[in-house]
Amino acid sequence: MINNNFNIPSSEDNLFTGIKECAEVKKLLSGMFAEDEPLYYIETFGCQQNEADSERLAGLCCAMGYKETANIKDASLILVNTCAIREHAEKKALSIIGEMKHIKEKNPRLIIGVGGCMPSQRHRAEKLKMSNPYVSFTFDTGAIHLVPSLVLGALKGGKRQFVFSESFGITEGIPTKVKNPYKAWLSVMYGCNNFCSYCIVPYVRGRERSRRPEDILREARMLVENGAKDITLLGQNVNSYGKDFDNTNIASLMREICKINGDFRLRFMTSHPKDASDELIAAMAEEEKIVPHFHLPVQSGSDRILERMNRKYTREKYIGIIEKLKKAVPDVSITSDIIVAFPGETEEDFSDTLSLLREVEYDMIFSFIYSPREGTPAAKMPDQIDRAVANDRYARLLSLQDTITDKRNARFVGRTLKVLCEEESKNDPQMMTGRADTPRPIHFKGDPSLKGQFVNVKITKSDLFCLSGEIEK
Ligand code: 5AD
Ligand code: SF4
Repeated sequence: MINNNFNIPSSEDNLFTGIKECAEVKKLLSGMFAEDEPLYYIETFGCQQNEADSERLAGLCCAMGYKETANIKDASLILVNTCAIREHAEKKALSIIGEMKHIKEKNPRLIIGVGGCMPSQRHRAEKLKMSNPYVSFTFDTGAIHLVPSLVLGALKGGKRQFVFSESFGITEGIPTKVKNPYKAWLSVMYGCNNFCSYCIVPYVRGRERSRRPEDILREARMLVENGAKDITLLGQNVNSYGKDFDNTNIASLMREICKINGDFRLRFMTSHPKDASDELIAAMAEEEKIVPHFHLPVQSGSDRILERMNRKYTREKYIGIIEKLKKAVPDVSITSDIIVAFPGETEEDFSDTLSLLREVEYDMIFSFIYSPREGTPAAKMPDQIDRAVANDRYARLLSLQDTITDKRNARFVGRTLKVLCEEESKNDPQMMTGRADTPRPIHFKGDPSLKGQFVNVKITKSDLFCLSGEIEK
């Protein structure tokens, strides 16, 4: 039986202690909602770490006695989990938060809380405080466990609260409500120490800290018992996992997780090239459960820009890792993040990025136009790039990658892939969508009863964004 709502016990001291507040909220709600049910709605922006955090927020909402609704207008509690990585992400969240004013006007007992990376910056929380008076509270990324007490305060009509953690720790045992039991996120570490000069993450998620291996293994076992077939280990800088301990690292942790009985596969993201160890590559080559897909963001192909980005590796060093990886795992899928138009990027620097794309032949890239983030060193650098130049470079980057992706996808035609069936295809109800080792979605004829199962699919066609095939009986 799949248990969608579980509490993960921890070995020691850093346990979630908000159960009392959850019970108090529940009691208050039962008095307030005699006829109808208290419903929650969570809006999530950003990366997988935020998706995982939202599963914890959902678990807390259930523990407080709320039920989920897909309709924001019916909610009595709205939580917005925001992203701050680029300006566009913040604008999107601010626009949705702006619209909530009207919902609140119609429903005065509605509680709205804003969390995640955006209100983890003081200037943003201040702005929310002044411009959005209907927001009851904000909480930073280190304060998820405090949400029950914030909701309790709001229910009791207390003052609006804006929480900033003094230090970012780890709280084990927060109840979790998983979105999809087949595809699980498993946070193994939090924070980042790298301070890439463009990036807001170290400022909003604190310093690197790893969960204890025994806590992670316990959660991994529970996920597998609950039906997880695809587990992604998460961390802003996941391959530096374990630096706070003497005797573990990401490779040994993954090997331990692979020992858990069950038909599941294991992924990890996101990695920094400086920590892409031989041990990790060997684990990927040797462990059957580890998916041969390495997401290894390079950001730029120019040494000059890499230095200005404070990336701590050179192009040569990066290519060296890729060569080792391809040798050890011949059919590996490699993906990357690329930033174009970083301050000072010349046409020559940009062509170094294009030539790196040709050299590595990524399966896919996630590409971004540089977005200045207040408080980061790059935002103050001279020679910010003109928008028209940035757009032009971005288009050229995508166009080159499209030809490479096409070629990479085509290698699967004629092969049979082990695909985890995930959901109905959005365009055709007769088709199902799933994923194999390659990051591309795979479409095939099937029915919803296959959801959460592995099927063998013979690939018959490849497109830029997907593969298609037929189930082999
Ligand atoms: N501007 C554009 N892209 C950024 N990223 C991080 N910060 C910025 C920024 N200020 C990109 C990087 C990172 C990915 C998650 O987002 O490529 O790897
Ligand atoms: Fe940001 Fe760099 Fe840390 Fe990644 S490694 S989260 S890009 S600072």
